[in-house]
Amino acid sequence: MTAVLQPFLPDGPAFSAEDFDAIARFIAEEAGLCLAESGQALVYSRLVRHVRRLGCSDFAQYINAVLADDSGKEREALIHALTTNTTRFFREPAHYDIFAQDLLPDLIERARNGGRVRFWSAGCSTGEEAYSLAAVILSKFPQAGQYDVRILGTDINHLVLERAKEGIYPAEQTAGVPAPYLDLMFEPTVATAQTRSIRGELKAMVSFRYLNLVAPWPVQGPFDAIFCRNVAIYMDQPTQYLLWSGFEAVLAPKGMLFIGHSERLGADIGQRLRPCGPTAFHRAPPQAPSHQGETHVPQR
Ligand SMILES: C[S@@+](CC[C@H](N)C(=O)[O-])C[C@H]1O[C@@H](n2cnc3c(N)ncnc32)[C@H](O)[C@@H]1O
Repeated sequence: MTAVLQPFLPDGPAFSAEDFDAIARFIAEEAGLCLAESGQALVYSRLVRHVRRLGCSDFAQYINAVLADDSGKEREALIHALTTNTTRFFREPAHYDIFAQDLLPDLIERARNGGRVRFWSAGCSTGEEAYSLAAVILSKFPQAGQYDVRILGTDINHLVLERAKEGIYPAEQTAGVPAPYLDLMFEPTVATAQTRSIRGELKAMVSFRYLNLVAPWPVQGPFDAIFCRNVAIYMDQPTQYLLWSGFEAVLAPKGMLFIGHSERLGADIGQRLRPCGPTAFHRAPPQAPSHQGETHVPQR
């Protein structure tokens, strides 16, 4: 028998426990995201407008419509509705300090000598993380644009990627940008009272692309820094493990991985990627050479 959940809206479309389970399975398979058992009201409120837009009488019909849509547009709308895209410029600022102080100096040297330098903001949402990185780089290395220094921003959600590429943000979102970066990041000429545009120099360093972290990754590593923050927190442990081990595989030998402050690497990967700051990691130094085979003569 179908368990009917409490109606979340008077006269709203019917939403059963089976509908919730079907949506939870869908988003877990498509994006690796886990919906909390208690998340029914949230799912209902985020999807009800799509149920109505498609003229479906209930959620069961809506799910069938999503699965039958060959264009993929409805799948995308569902993913967009259920992913959390909250982000901000210079979120978790200690990470940018570690990046600037411990990683950048050697990389600037490498770039100046003609070397390749790559950064990845995985699960970049509307681009604030990638542009914050670009700002830090340009503040330390104003000529970065003339060298082989690139930032890749990826996300599963095409809509946030479009906004990231556009690089136009409500003025109040710049509140968290440290004062010295404001002029560096935003174009005074294009800005209106309500919005601010990212300067062309930063945009030129960053590429935004679709990439689903639970599908094969068409990326060209190695990356000197990977920021994947506040993405894995919505995934179960085996999926998180796949992400961390994937990042480990494309991290440059002296590269750093930055994860969200509520996320953990787990014991296995934690053996190989060691903390170098709060939720910042680099490869464990190679083991000291073993002395096996040497004859140790105890001293009297
Ligand atoms: C909360 S935002 C984090 C943004 C930024 N990293 C930060 O910390 O401010 C999480 C982002 O991860 C993306 N995401 C969720 N599942 C994903 C997946 N399977 N592959 C790629 N991106 C995913 C979401 O679309 C969303 O934009």
